[in-house]
Parts: sequence; C-alpha cells; structure tokens
Amino acid sequence: FGKPARVVKWWEDATERQRLLALASRGTPRYVYHLQTVRERARALNAVGAIDRRFFAIKANSHPWILRTLEAEGFGLECVSIGEIEHVFATLPGLDPSRVLFTPSFAPRREYDGAFERGVNVTLDNVEALRNWPETFRGRDLWLRIDLGRGDGHHAKVVTGGAASKFGLPIAAVDDFVAAARTVGVRITGIHAHLGSGIGHPKHWREVYAELAGVADGIGTVDSIDIGGGLTIPYKPDDQPFDLALWAEGLAEIKAAWPRYRLAIEPGRFMVAECGVLLTHVTQVVGKQGVRRVGLDAGMNALMRPAMYDAFHAVRNLTRFDDADDAAFDIVGPICESSDVLGIDRLLPVGTAEGDVVLVSDAGAYGFVMANTYNLRDLPQEDVLE
Ligand code: LLP
Repeated sequence: FGKPARVVKWWEDATERQRLLALASRGTPRYVYHLQTVRERARALNAVGAIDRRFFAIKANSHPWILRTLEAEGFGLECVSIGEIEHVFATLPGLDPSRVLFTPSFAPRREYDGAFERGVNVTLDNVEALRNWPETFRGRDLWLRIDLGRGDGHHAKVVTGGAASKFGLPIAAVDDFVAAARTVGVRITGIHAHLGSGIGHPKHWREVYAELAGVADGIGTVDSIDIGGGLTIPYKPDDQPFDLALWAEGLAEIKAAWPRYRLAIEPGRFMVAECGVLLTHVTQVVGKQGVRRVGLDAGMNALMRPAMYDAFHAVRNLTRFDDADDAAFDIVGPICESSDVLGIDRLLPVGTAEGDVVLVSDAGAYGFVMANTYNLRDLPQEDVLE
C-alpha cells in the first residue's frame, strides 16, 4: 500500500514543457490551455450513465476553443449573464438553444427577456421576479433554483446555499412560488440546486438529488433535476483525484430510486482547471530579513484565486525543471497590495533567477475570466495546445 500515487499533470511531459517555454518567449503572463485534457475530463463524465444532461459552467473559462471542444463532446453550456449567452451563440453558431441553461443571480429584467427570446432554459430563484415581471414570465417554462438550507465549498466566499447566501429559494417557500407560477401561467419543468464550488466528498450530489426529487415530486410538472457543479480537482501535490467512480455509483443508485427525472449537472472547474497553466517570468529575487521572495510578472490581477480565497496553486520553475526544488521562497506579484501573494514557503530551485519561466499549475478555471487590469497592467494572453 504506502502512499497513494501522486497525480501527474500533462505539462510535466518533456515535449509539452518545450512547447510551453516556446510560448512563454512570446510574452507573459500567458494562460495556456491543453485541449486534450479538457476532452479527457468530458469523456470521463460522459461515461457516467446516470447523467442525462451536462452543462459546462462557462464562467470558469469562456475561451472559444474550450467551448468548441466541450460542445463537440456533447456538453451544453451554463451561462450567468446575457453576455455569456451572446458569447456562446457567437462562438457556436447554430447551437440548439435547449443546450443552454441560464442561471442568473439578481440579473436585470432585460436579461431574462433576452434569454427567453433566445429560447434557452431559464432558472429563477425568487418569487419577487415572478410577481413584479409577469409579462416576462407569462406562459414560459422555468427551472426553479432551490436553497437546501446549507452550503458547501472550498472557501466561505464560494458557498452558495444557506440563510446567509443570496442564492436560491428556501424549500419552505416553494408552495408560495408554485402558486405564483400558476397565476402567471408558468410551468416549472426543472429543479436546480448548486451549493458551492470545490466539493470533494462524492456523496454530496446524491443527497442533493434525493432532496430535489422530493421537491419535484410535490410539484408534479418537473422533467429535469439539475444537481449543480462543484466537483473539485487535485490542486495540492498530495491531493487525490476526485473519486468519480464513487460519485457515479451514488448517482446510479439515486437515479434508480427516482428514474423519471432527467439528471443534469453543470460543472465548471472539473472540466478545465487542470487543462490550464499560467506562464510567468521571474522579475526579481529579493531577500529581506530572512524571507526570500520570487517576484513574478503575474500578480493577483492575472490570477485572483490566491488573494481572494487563499487558494493553492502549485508553482514550478520550467527553466530549471530538472534542478532540485531545494529552497523555500514566498511567491509574489507586481501589484501594490499586500495580498498580492501567490504562495508562501514554496520550494523552487535555489538558483531561481530573473528571467526564469515559472509555471502556475491548475489555472484553467477561474483564472483568465477573473483577471483584470488593476494598476493598469495588461490582461494576460491566452493560447491553446492541441
Ligand atoms: N453552477 C452554478 C449555479 C454556479 O454558481 C457555479 C459556480 C457552477 C455551476 C460551477 O461550479 P464549479 O463546478 O466550477 O465549482 N471563483 C471561485 C469559484 C466560484 C464559483 C461560482 N459558481 C473559485 O475560483 O474558486
């Protein structure tokens, strides 16, 4: 037995590293997405028999080649804004709108109108919108987003359920919503929940399905049950891959108990996090009062997750890949904020120096899409690799 095997990432391969070094020489910070990895994740989920519909949450990564790749693997697309909806149809002309799901939060009325005009599936999670905008919803099919009274996820800032969360309709308010829907002539055809992001315990989704199926049974017109996204990925060197086999087993059991609903999921991170790396150059290496810092040309403007969620992203020196990682550094960026720290006490080769290419791992989800131009720094570049 002993230690479980370490997850090997695609970029550890020598040929891929040469390709990455060549891309880095065109300028950094630079996101690079490995499409074959996206395909592998898609095929792993496609092999889960209990699932009928898969929507990729494009907020995680809306690069056109990511969308084309997932669409070609049979995925639909989950959007949270009219901008994302327009982007999807511009990228994939002729896409069947039934493969798009709109899951907005506190969006303006015109975005619901726009979504209905496009013919996509629309989710709603409050009765106020139904009552205030009857003309928008009259005669429509709707998916209802439920708050199951609890949240989950890798950080408090990504929890999307429970009393403190702005998302979802509490179960206790479902009867009221159903009555209001009847008044407006709305048919509830889907039930939806997404409790948070970065969830590692595979039983979560079967529990969500069971609770939602109970709600759906009470409503009577429901055809689809969407149990959200949230599947995690191995970010830390000792993290094990998400247990898809156990996950699939749980879903198969629960689907057998409630076979009449079409089971939908909407993962973002799981599909794309591991396909993406952020390439950077070392700007300066500085020792100060016992702490050695490696500065990168990518800061919290390029990758916000460490500053915002204390998220862990592994770093490797690509220029000195074969040297031992034998010295501890704090990894920082060029932004004028104390939170501009990518990692504390990270091991890199002791010879790490200005101009080296440093790779930031697992940056394909919520990386470029959250980047900004703070301090008037340019947005990162993006490339795809076949
Ligand atoms: N469905 C809904 C309704 C969502 O709100 C989200 C993510 C997803 C699906 C996809 O979740 P995923 O499978 O990617 O966990 N920026 C944060 C994550 C925010 C997630 C927002 N909603 C991060 O970098 O960790």
